[in-house]
Amino acid sequence: MNDMIVVNDLRRVYYMGEFEVHALRGVSFTIKRGEFVAIMGPSGSGKSTLMNLIGCLDTATAGSYTLDGLPVEELDPALLAAVRNRKIGFVFQQFHLLARATALQNVALPLAYRGGIPAKERTARAAAALERVGLGERMDHKPHELSGGQQQRVAIARALVNQPALLLADEPTGALDTKTSAEIMGLFSDLNRTGMTVVVITHEPDVAHQTRRLLEIRDGLLVRDVPTATAWPHDGVPVSLAPANRRRLPLRKMWRTPR
Ligand SMILES: Nc1ncnc2c1ncn2[C@@H]1O[C@H](COP(=O)(O)OP(=O)(O)OP(=O)(O)O)[C@@H](O)[C@H]1O
Ligand SMILES: [Mg+2]
Repeated sequence: MNDMIVVNDLRRVYYMGEFEVHALRGVSFTIKRGEFVAIMGPSGSGKSTLMNLIGCLDTATAGSYTLDGLPVEELDPALLAAVRNRKIGFVFQQFHLLARATALQNVALPLAYRGGIPAKERTARAAAALERVGLGERMDHKPHELSGGQQQRVAIARALVNQPALLLADEPTGALDTKTSAEIMGLFSDLNRTGMTVVVITHEPDVAHQTRRLLEIRDGLLVRDVPTATAWPHDGVPVSLAPANRRRLPLRKMWRTPR
């Protein structure tokens, strides 16, 4: 099978007391092995909800999800956890590194959780993953001794160490400056070229632009599925998302001014 992700009419309702939040209202798409995809949409549109479902961190209210040929709803929790650990590498906006552990120890951690791998091999594999993200010289540094971009590279190495088939990143560049964001996207692109399926969630058009396929969601529905190269016909000016960006600026200002 060449399909990595097949979701069919996926729905997720959150129940909050008397209220129901329909975060995903019937989403269907297929992502093949080796694709490089951006999932984009405004805040609250359901991106993280979708990522949690794709990442087997949450289960859908209705609909079906097949991950690399496995029917996710039918797996029991223990098997699902094993599938998640082996098949998926996660990268988040806040790097979620252990502050007191070195880069090498952070990256080796998933191998320790997995069990059955001797310490020497864990270290060798963690070192290889750090080399792969260009941090061979920084293995003994703790997170506070690394830049934001380097910390995200450590987090990516940690996601890679189990040799996942799928790399899932939720706003991986959200805490980084523009230049560092481009470097991180370049790294994802390199990994994709080696055959890894990469799915990046973002609300930054510049980030989405570096992938090859764009899935856009709004209000819990898939509204666009196009090759990224054709997504913004006017030379990369992401008209559809400009209002969302404009909205964010005054908010930040508001936080800074009171004194
Ligand atoms: N655990 C939860 N309980 C209740 N409602 C939730 C929960 N998680 C998300 N929601 C709601 O579901 C909707 C989709 O949220 P989600 O986090 O998926 O959006 P998002 O696209 O990731 O937004 P952002 O860009 O801000 O991260 C929102 O209306 C949100 O308030
Ligand atoms: Mg989110």
